[in-house]
Amino acid sequence: MTLPATGLPREEVLARLTALRSKDLAARGGRTFAYVYDPARPDIDELGHEVYASYLDVNGLDPTVFPSLLAMENDVVDIARRHLGSSTAVGSFTSGGTESIILAVKAARDRAGIVGGQVVLPVTAHAAFQKACHYLGLEAVLVDVDPQTFRAVPSLVEAAITDRTVLLVASAASYAHGVVDPVEEIAALGLERGVPVHVDGCIGGWLLPYFARLGVDVPAFDFRVPGVTSMSVDLHKYAYAPKGASVVLYDDAALRRKQFYACADWTGYTMINATVQSTKSGGPLAAAWAVLHAVGDDGYVELAQKTLTATRRLLEGVDKIDGLRVLGDPELALVAIASDEVDVFVLCDEMNARGWYVQAQLGYRGLPASMHLTLTASSEAVVDDLLVDLAVAVEASRGVTVGDPALLAAVQDLDPETLGDDVLGTLLPLAGIEPGAGLPERMAAINTLLEKMPMRLRERLLIEFLGLLFTPKSDAE
Ligand SMILES: Cc1ncc(COP(=O)(O)O)c(C=O)c1O
Repeated sequence: MTLPATGLPREEVLARLTALRSKDLAARGGRTFAYVYDPARPDIDELGHEVYASYLDVNGLDPTVFPSLLAMENDVVDIARRHLGSSTAVGSFTSGGTESIILAVKAARDRAGIVGGQVVLPVTAHAAFQKACHYLGLEAVLVDVDPQTFRAVPSLVEAAITDRTVLLVASAASYAHGVVDPVEEIAALGLERGVPVHVDGCIGGWLLPYFARLGVDVPAFDFRVPGVTSMSVDLHKYAYAPKGASVVLYDDAALRRKQFYACADWTGYTMINATVQSTKSGGPLAAAWAVLHAVGDDGYVELAQKTLTATRRLLEGVDKIDGLRVLGDPELALVAIASDEVDVFVLCDEMNARGWYVQAQLGYRGLPASMHLTLTASSEAVVDDLLVDLAVAVEASRGVTVGDPALLAAVQDLDPETLGDDVLGTLLPLAGIEPGAGLPERMAAINTLLEKMPMRLRERLLIEFLGLLFTPKSDAE
């Protein structure tokens, strides 16, 4: 595509965008059980969008020249820290969970001040921690979780601590299974060994305190637990702020100082950055501030109640469907459903073919593959319909197997280290991925193949795939 030689009329631009968007997943309506958080409150969406747009041109680069942003950030951090059991923690507003995590890992690395630091990660910790280690030159030390509860095992975490450990991590809750790690035990290890402990509340940090108030047995997970030194909580998840909104918090200003970056050693303005981004739109912060104020504590209790009701109805309903089982005992509104009777990847396709969006989670280190659902306040209105379709989808999946056994056997032995990028590219069509064609509607065969591959090959292949996706069409196409 080339830039239009003359600017297009507004209607034409909007019509083109509408056409592009028609292929997107629905972000509202409750049928999309991943990626989006729908409060089923058009008033809140409307306010968020309006405020977001009104602050789009304001630059968060320099907090001294746009004091409204500084005031809003201090407000949002104050609200978040009180929500998580501290009136003295300090923090920053960031663009999302991944940025919050990268910053917390950087702070821990720079606090330790050693070369070759390690971060101890239960395998259920979000992949953003491994990304942070990759970016920051740290080693991610993965430890298994309990295969029944999917929670971190303190003794395994302890065994992984060395004199190079810069950070321990616990999830509250984990994305894949929605369970809360034993934060008290892990934080006690941190205290005993002098290692900071980050609790990843990106997905659970906002909702869990509300679930606790509604009677769910939520274990202690926040700053009230001695030894917890930093936390992340995403406002663009269960606080229903528009995307680009998270908070990273530290119990101690000295630790946060290690997050900040300043550079005076060049010809331009003296750069001081609290977060990874430098120029950043004020939109996400202003919108998050507005949504928090407009929903208020009573509104969040109501949203949490709907989410909890939907989750309980789903858990009870799944229990009654032959052939399905829920993994672990989720404390949050995240449910992983496995099956010993049907291929769970086929089941995901069957659900998606019925107009839902559910997410396939591949088996990993002996933990079973599953179908993931993130429930929100909007799920309450649709959960009964979902259960009806789920029961039908299970029957439709019975006896269906996917994947060519010879191919599945062959990929297990491929060593990504010895395969060149060109060979990797040729593997994509074997996996059912054709250049320019996007992903097929049915993903079970691809998921099965990916699951069978050595992990590193899977990663390399996905990077090839990403390269294909992000290649603009050439003139010939
Ligand atoms: C537990 C947890 N941590 C971190 C993240 C990363 O958040 P983001 O996608 O906003 O970068 C997620 C996202 O789902 C999550 O569930």
